[in-house]
Amino acid sequence: MTEDSATTPLRGALQREYTDPTVFERELTRVFDRDWVLVGRQGTIPKPGDYMTGKLGKRPVVCIRQKDGSIRAFANVCLHRYARLLDGRGNKSRIVCPYHAWTYEISGQLIGITDPKGFGSACKEEMGLRELACEVWLGFVFVSLNRDLPSMSSKLAPLTAHLAHYGLDSYEDRYTFDEEVWAGNWKLVYENFVECYHVTYAHKGSIGPTNPTALAECSTAIWMRTHLDCRAAAEVGSRGQSQFSIHYNPYRPEDYPEIHNLTLDIDERRRLLVIGVYPNALIALDANFVWWMMLEPQAIDRTNGRWGLSFSPLAMTKMKDPVGYAESIRKTIQTATDEDKRVVSAVQAGVSFGSPEPGFLHGTLEIYVDEFRQYLDRMLS
Ligand code: FES
Ligand SMILES: [Fe+2]
Repeated sequence: MTEDSATTPLRGALQREYTDPTVFERELTRVFDRDWVLVGRQGTIPKPGDYMTGKLGKRPVVCIRQKDGSIRAFANVCLHRYARLLDGRGNKSRIVCPYHAWTYEISGQLIGITDPKGFGSACKEEMGLRELACEVWLGFVFVSLNRDLPSMSSKLAPLTAHLAHYGLDSYEDRYTFDEEVWAGNWKLVYENFVECYHVTYAHKGSIGPTNPTALAECSTAIWMRTHLDCRAAAEVGSRGQSQFSIHYNPYRPEDYPEIHNLTLDIDERRRLLVIGVYPNALIALDANFVWWMMLEPQAIDRTNGRWGLSFSPLAMTKMKDPVGYAESIRKTIQTATDEDKRVVSAVQAGVSFGSPEPGFLHGTLEIYVDEFRQYLDRMLS
């Protein structure tokens, strides 16, 4: 953020960006087909054969834990006549298509064709499910249709450095909720998460009192200049990063979390970090837990958010009542989510009016809505 940006008015997106089916289709193909997309957390599928399904835009995919401990991602589509193979989450030693029972190894290899004579010389050993790029970054599982992209860890290297003290890749993934349907366009859900203007006003029953808007700290660029060397700071430019944004909602002093991870510095102990990773990953992190959500656009005015809560193993070991603590965080997050769902659905109802006049963005507190828009413009152009 520059000095000027605090006073320069920013304009929001046009209302049609949230209602036009042509825009929605372009986003699915030009954004979700072209970038890394968050599917879930690694701890959701800990054992060989565990799988979780998801979507890249509208394309069904599945991530499967392999016998060697790695996670691989495949198109969740049978090679025969395209039936979706797996639903939800579960464990399989082999994948059997529900339609005509073609069978696959969890490595994706086709190993069984029912009534094979009918397929002539089709060679089952050489056939397999379409494999997709899959990368685990700090415990988050990203998948991409494009196998030639730079790695997610290289794109997020400055963020990895910033989060080093937390040990996020070792967090215990305690809760995963596969379905949380929002009555709004996926961009509205994303934009709501990365702006801290609304916290005091929309979250009266959850984080509004403990992490008020008045305490928010919003500047990727200021943080970059003070925490990174000059070369890295120059690369991020004056406004922020090309693949993510981060801002902070500090706790009031009377609400500071218990500290069990003694490597956290003084700022990390008092802050709730709010991170958006383009295009669909939302992450809120404090000294003891991380709340994450991945967005799956289902229709122009409907979005599924798979979300979960993971906890620092230090906190879980040293707290007096870790189960009670985890449950209290779940309840707070569920309340915050319900509050966010109300405001997102209100905006979706409002944009139906179809005004040609763009709205306004706060010059600091909503700066990351503007940065997300810049990312979309790059991907869609
Ligand atoms: S569609 Fe899968 S076996 Fe026929
Ligand atoms: Fe919110």
